[in-house]
Amino acid sequence: MAPKKILLDCDPGLDDALALLLAHTDENLELVAVTTVGGNVALSSTTRNALQLREYLGFDSVPVAAGADAPLARPAENAAHVHGEEGLGSLTLPAAVLPPADLHAVDLIIDTLRASPGTVHLIATGPLTNIALALRREPAIAKWAASFVIMGGSFTRGNATPAAEFNIYADPEAAEIVFAAGWQVVMVGLDLTLQAMATPEIVRRMHLLGPLGTELVVPLSTFWTNPDGSEPHGQAVHDLCAVAYITRPDLFRSRPAAVEVETHGRFTVGMTVVDFESPEPNALVPVDLDVDGFWEHVLGAWETLSSRHPRA
Ligand code: RIB
Ligand code: CA
Repeated sequence: MAPKKILLDCDPGLDDALALLLAHTDENLELVAVTTVGGNVALSSTTRNALQLREYLGFDSVPVAAGADAPLARPAENAAHVHGEEGLGSLTLPAAVLPPADLHAVDLIIDTLRASPGTVHLIATGPLTNIALALRREPAIAKWAASFVIMGGSFTRGNATPAAEFNIYADPEAAEIVFAAGWQVVMVGLDLTLQAMATPEIVRRMHLLGPLGTELVVPLSTFWTNPDGSEPHGQAVHDLCAVAYITRPDLFRSRPAAVEVETHGRFTVGMTVVDFESPEPNALVPVDLDVDGFWEHVLGAWETLSSRHPRA
């Protein structure tokens, strides 16, 4: 079977970087474009990080286009306290030589989906600003995308606030547009992603990836923990789950739901209100993960790259 084409809109970001790595290494995926958005850190930093990762991992022919540097209707939030001031924790990658694409992320999203309707899967692992802007300019992308998967939201508690997950909280107006666009949103939320932690056993296996593990994967996966992944017991790898869903939906137990986004609540702005009983679902919400199967899939894909990694 031909690999599934994906466009990844992201805000690298520790876990976005791991998601890019999987998007590049899973032999059942073909990463055809990357777009960046301000989120974890400023757009200039998320774009720099994406460009550096592109050259470090060797997907130089894949276009990287910068997008929105601020939310649609409110001041920018960031998560530098989680991802480090530069966005990749303690990691310093070589400066990128190749520039970003000379078009805006919104144009790259629309052009990529228009060029081959029904064949490119759209994944968003940051605030949904670029996706909302693309929908405003060309609503047909909701039909052209082969599927649309986000890391974002939650049907229990948030992480940016008790009610809201960061990607939604950062731009709730954009999320409101995205969930109302008429496509099915696969909402890989915190309830799912917090099942996939980089525990000490997983970190031990990451070290077996050679330089790819010790130079990149382990530092990205242990920024908040001890170097062995302990204390606390494992770092979340949220965005990795969204990319894994594309080729291995069988690892996820998912339920249809109607999802609404709170944009005005004094304490609940950015909350995804998830109704699993609705007769008119607009989303598919993964609720359970085959954790062992997930890590076998991810580490197996990365082993293929580590064997041919330029620094192996
Ligand atoms: O809440 C987790 C999400 O927010 C992830 O996408 C992480 O990268 C941050 O953007
Ligand atoms: Ca992210």
